[in-house]
Formats: sequence, structure tokens, C-alpha cells
Amino acid sequence: MNRKVIQIVSLMAIFGCVTIGFTSCSKKNPNSPGVEFMPDMYRSPSLESNMAYVKIVDGKETIDTLQANRLPVAATIARGFIPYPYPDDTTGYGQAGRLLHNPLEKTEANIMQGEVLYGKFCVQCHGNTGQGDGLVALKLPGPPPSYTGPVLMALPEGKMFHTITYGKNLMGSHASQLTVNERWKLVMFVQKLQGKLK
Ligand code: HEC
Repeated sequence: MNRKVIQIVSLMAIFGCVTIGFTSCSKKNPNSPGVEFMPDMYRSPSLESNMAYVKIVDGKETIDTLQANRLPVAATIARGFIPYPYPDDTTGYGQAGRLLHNPLEKTEANIMQGEVLYGKFCVQCHGNTGQGDGLVALKLPGPPPSYTGPVLMALPEGKMFHTITYGKNLMGSHASQLTVNERWKLVMFVQKLQGKLK
């Protein structure tokens, strides 16, 4: 090996040792990871959606309890969101039955989309034809009532929508899974199963 190569290698070794020596430990804080060359890479500046995250303020780690997902400003609503005015109680149920009507047109396409949604969200309890004989219904303490029984045949569409929105007894709320229009399409398909729509 010629002298130049030996010199370069030893310089690199010395530089490496010095770098490690300066950065590996700190007398002030034995738990410190040392100098961070690229803190952004160790501590992503992105905010956590629902939890506290670590923030460096004046070289000190602080736990920032602010979260990225903020609560909406009081008395405001999200763009495109229409609040549902009927409360989740018997009064709201009654009002929905009297005042709430399907805003969608009863078209073949809407009913077909309702059928697809029914196959994904409802069939397991209510069964293919709405007789309350789905596979999950067998495990329930009591099966869902038949759509063509006297009680549900007399049920106004607003009450159906209300129940799909909030749930009722053993049936859970579907408001977070289904948009308002999707819920109305389901109401239409239930009416189709009842023989009320052609
Ligand atoms: C976990 C099983 C289950 C699922 C899933 C389910 N239901 Fe129900 N559903 C029930 C039961 C049980 C009842 C009877 C509630 C009662 O009156 O106590 C019911 C009642 C109803 C009623 C009558 C509501 C009323 O006000 O009396 C309608 C309409 C209905 N379901 C439609 C649907 C639709 C549409 C879906 C799919 C989005 C669905 N259900 C999903 C179990 C279920």
C-alpha cells in the first residue's frame, strides 16, 4: 500500500473517531441520543391525528397535547353536511314518521343501488327477502320483524330512515357507514321487498 493511501485511511479513521466521540454521549443527559444531524428525519414534523406528539422547543423535547384533528368551531357545520333535525328519541321517531319523506326519485337505478347496499349491510340480519331470517339473525335473541308483517307494512318511510340512521334496539346505527342518499336508496329497496314499488 502506498503512503498516500495510508495517510487518507488514517485521516478518515481519526475523523470518524472524533465525530463519534463528539456525538455519541452527553454528560448533561445520559439518555440523550446526542447531536441530531437531521432531526426532521427522526421526528417527523407531521402531526398525529388524534394523539399527543413530541415537539422540540428551544432544543427541549415537549409533549404537545394538541392534536391535528380539531373539534369543529361551535355553531358551524361542515360544508355539504346537512344536519338531521330529529332527535334520537320517541318524539324524534314520531316527527320523522310524519314529516320526513324520500327526496330521491323512485327510479330503477336508485332501487338497484339500494339492493347492492342491502346485500352489504342488511341481508345478514333481515335475510334476502326481508323475512328476518339472515344468518346473523339466527344468533340474535329475537329475529328482526318481517318487512311484510302488519307492523312494518304500516311503517312510514321517515321512520325507516330514522331507524337506519340511529338504530333501534338490536339494530345498530348505520349513519357512519351510509350517506343520507344511500339510506334513502335502502328505504326504497325495503319498500320494493314489501311490494310497495314496482
Ligand atoms: C344486527 C342485525 C341487523 C342489521 C345489520 C340490520 N338490521 Fe334492521 N333491524 C334489526 C332488528 C333486530 C330490528 C327490530 C328492531 C326493533 O323494533 O326492536 C330491525 C328493524 C328494522 C326496520 C324497522 C324499523 C322500525 O322503525 O321499526 C327496518 C326498516 C330495518 N331494520 C332496515 C334495515 C336496513 C335497511 C338495514 C341495512 C342498512 C338493516 N336494517 C340492518 C336488525 C338488523
